[in-house]
Amino acid sequence: MLILGVETSCDETSIGLLEVKKTKANFFINPKSNLLVSQIKIHQKYGGVVPILASREHYKNLPFLFKKIIEEEKISIARDINLIAVTNGPGLVPALLIGVNFSKTLAWYFDKPIIGVSHLSGHLLSFLLPPLEEKKRISLSYLNSLFPLIALIVSGGHTLLVYCKKINDYDIIGETLDDAAGECFDKTARILNLSYPGGPIISQLSQKYRVQIPNSKFQIPNFPRPMINQNNYNFSFSGLKTAVLYFWQKLKKEEREKLTPAVAYEIEEAITDVLVKKTFKAINDFEVKTLVIGGGVASNLRLREKIEETIKKEKLKINFIPPPLEYSTDNAIMIALAGFFESFKKIEDWRKIDAFANKKF
Ligand code: KG4
Ligand code: ZN
Repeated sequence: MLILGVETSCDETSIGLLEVKKTKANFFINPKSNLLVSQIKIHQKYGGVVPILASREHYKNLPFLFKKIIEEEKISIARDINLIAVTNGPGLVPALLIGVNFSKTLAWYFDKPIIGVSHLSGHLLSFLLPPLEEKKRISLSYLNSLFPLIALIVSGGHTLLVYCKKINDYDIIGETLDDAAGECFDKTARILNLSYPGGPIISQLSQKYRVQIPNSKFQIPNFPRPMINQNNYNFSFSGLKTAVLYFWQKLKKEEREKLTPAVAYEIEEAITDVLVKKTFKAINDFEVKTLVIGGGVASNLRLREKIEETIKKEKLKINFIPPPLEYSTDNAIMIALAGFFESFKKIEDWRKIDAFANKKF
């Protein structure tokens, strides 16, 4: 079947076409096109996403992306599309509404099945996607062998640990009590006067600094790792942000310039330390077979490296399956894939689909 995915929950407008075939023993997953317009430049000067500007950009870009995908892939909605999957939460409601309304209109006009998909299911299932321009065959027996699994979903708006017994069966076991991990990268980057989004920039500076550490003249600051030893799976990042702010305010201008890479390094270390510690607490407590990660922060290479090191060091017999980098951040292909699996549960009436800021799964 051919699925049209639509994603407008935050600051990326994305339309995707995903082909999925299910046989008795296998799934064949073939992302045919993933079109995306990023709004980073528009939100950069505000240091974060401005909902009404995001909404206007989706409104402007979505029809053009739709036209482009139809022309490039030479498809006809009436003839070729079997399902429309649209993100309907969680996210910024003014942004979500653009994608939801667009998709509902298509579903009505072309009389197509439609499903409102959780953005979190999309991030969670993105580990099943092949790298860009590739196809993937997943045998059902392999898929079944991965469960139960723990998913760490880390993005600009969410930090969740999810216990997953099987596809479509999700149990949130921990989440952030305040800022999300990506938000912490973005807000601390703003303190350091770096641009938005902060995650990739902090990560680049940190990587550069890491190789210089043996020769570094600077004392690396020591930031807190909030809640790291608490006996639960929750997170808190606002204290780390405040610690960075106080540290930064005490520095002179010349010191700030010199210390930026060291501070970026320590921010990345602190955030990834907490994420890794809590994730492995969950893995050990729940005795799962697999760890998957998803969301923008899942593209952080230091996080991936620390997870691999921990598995090796503790000699754990678990699969670690990160998504391809291009599907870690927001995209419509993961929404189409989540729509495919959710369509086993329910197909919705287009009249009843709405947008929900706090939808979970
Ligand atoms: O999943 P995503 O694209 O959008 C949301 O659903 O929020 O995640 C965006 C977040 C931003 O906070 C961004 O700073 C962070 O992901 N991010 C990273 C990296 N790439 C993106 N954080 C750390 N390291 C990265 N390499
Ligand atoms: Zn996201």
